Amino acid sequence: MIRKLTAAAVGLALASSAVFAASHGGGPFDAAIKARQAHMQLYAHNLGILGGMAKGAMDYNADLATVAATNLATLATLNQMTYWPEGSDSFDNENTAALPKIWDNFPDVAKKGQALAEATAAMQAAAGNGLDALRAAIGPVGEACGACHKAYRKPKE
Ligand code: HEC
Repeated sequence: MIRKLTAAAVGLALASSAVFAASHGGGPFDAAIKARQAHMQLYAHNLGILGGMAKGAMDYNADLATVAATNLATLATLNQMTYWPEGSDSFDNENTAALPKIWDNFPDVAKKGQALAEATAAMQAAAGNGLDALRAAIGPVGEACGACHKAYRKPKE
């Protein structure tokens, strides 16, 4: 009986230290949070190349544009399921901007992910066909990123 109680007490202590660690940046969701933020950084890097060309800050190069657009389209079709475990939201973890309502609206989040997959597929087809084609395709990509951020990412304080 005593042994059982002790085990239960240890269990409780572990559970509360996990909660403590989570709210102080050393939590059980750190790997998943880092992975999804890295995925987002890869989006930003590749979109930045296309955006630089669209704005004229960078010379248009059909091969490079196609590489960046193909990366974006590929990233947008990866299965991200393991990056978004329940409980890894910005309410319980200070190292993430992922709002808790992501987990209450999964079908809509998936729809916004699908919109990005479609916009990046169109960009992949267009990027090598000249600067005008690239420019025409970039708006919907930016809008797809922005629509999800507006709904599900905590604004910067
Ligand atoms: C389906 C929703 C969704 C889509 C689509 C989306 N994002 Fe995000 N993005 C998020 C969420 C949620 C976060 C916050 C993640 C976190 O902090 O854990 C985020 C964070 C980011 C960050 C900050 C990453 C960091 O290091 O903290 C960047 C940069 C970013 N997104 C770029 C993009 C770009 C560029 C696109 C489009 C090509 C895009 N995102 C599409 C939901 C989305």
